Amino acid sequence: MAIPLPEPRLARPLPPCDPFRHRAAYIRMLSYLYHAEAAALAGFELLTDPRYVEKSDLFDKAAPRLVTDEAKHLEDVRWMLARLGADEIPPPTAAERELWEGWRRGDLFVLPYKPSIASLFCLFSEGFGYAFLHHLHAVTLDPPIKARLAANLADEQMHLRLSISVLQRALERDPDFIADFLVYFSGYTLLARQPLREIRAVLNELGLDFEVVVASSVRFVYELFEVALARAGQRGRVWGVADRLTRLIAEHPHAVRLIHASMYLPEPPLARRLVYGWGRRRQAARLNPEARA
Ligand SMILES: [Fe+2]
Ligand SMILES: [Fe+2]
Repeated sequence: MAIPLPEPRLARPLPPCDPFRHRAAYIRMLSYLYHAEAAALAGFELLTDPRYVEKSDLFDKAAPRLVTDEAKHLEDVRWMLARLGADEIPPPTAAERELWEGWRRGDLFVLPYKPSIASLFCLFSEGFGYAFLHHLHAVTLDPPIKARLAANLADEQMHLRLSISVLQRALERDPDFIADFLVYFSGYTLLARQPLREIRAVLNELGLDFEVVVASSVRFVYELFEVALARAGQRGRVWGVADRLTRLIAEHPHAVRLIHASMYLPEPPLARRLVYGWGRRRQAARLNPEARA
């Protein structure tokens, strides 16, 4: 039976959006989507490359299907941009490049990733992408663009199910996961700060409430994660805290203002070195378990 999926829910409804009326901002938004799809494609290709992810049978079946779909989505976004008269794809901003390439450069996260962390990254990026696409589809008024977005959503549902089942199996093999999760999650937020600031400006131009969209996406991703945890039999007390916190954010989107404000604080000076150092130690312990004993 197919894994039942949660739906992204909104604290307040978003106003409809005519892509032709908000042409410049909609093009900007589609270009973010394009570069996100391109990054997903590149990431899925690397799932089976042992320089980036430790060899695991987990990805052998899933990766080719994901790669094929994301290549199709790139074509769809290109088509939507052309419909709005944009034949050239606007290049990624420096912040986008940092987000989409920083994870595989090897100077923040230690390579190769262990399979559970790679699956977690898949679920996170697919989950945030899905929530965003879901809301964009819901508000878009132009029927042909709406239809393309709907077709992509159907594929992305399959990606979410695949990500959940891969993460579930990875968690069953790697129960020692929470500490890694927290460190990698902090590393990821370092990469996401600047792109989120940029997306906020574009969402505002489209008349969409950044706080409502982000609050909904955060809760949705947690709910996906919870499905994987429950299936792996790993629902513990720590995750109860995350459950309450994300529920609070979803019901009171102004709490996102705190997250937003923190994006403007200077980056803690040693943050990147700490994330890297943690990865190095964990990798050394994994490769040489006797040394740890
Ligand atoms: Fe996609
Ligand atoms: Fe996807």
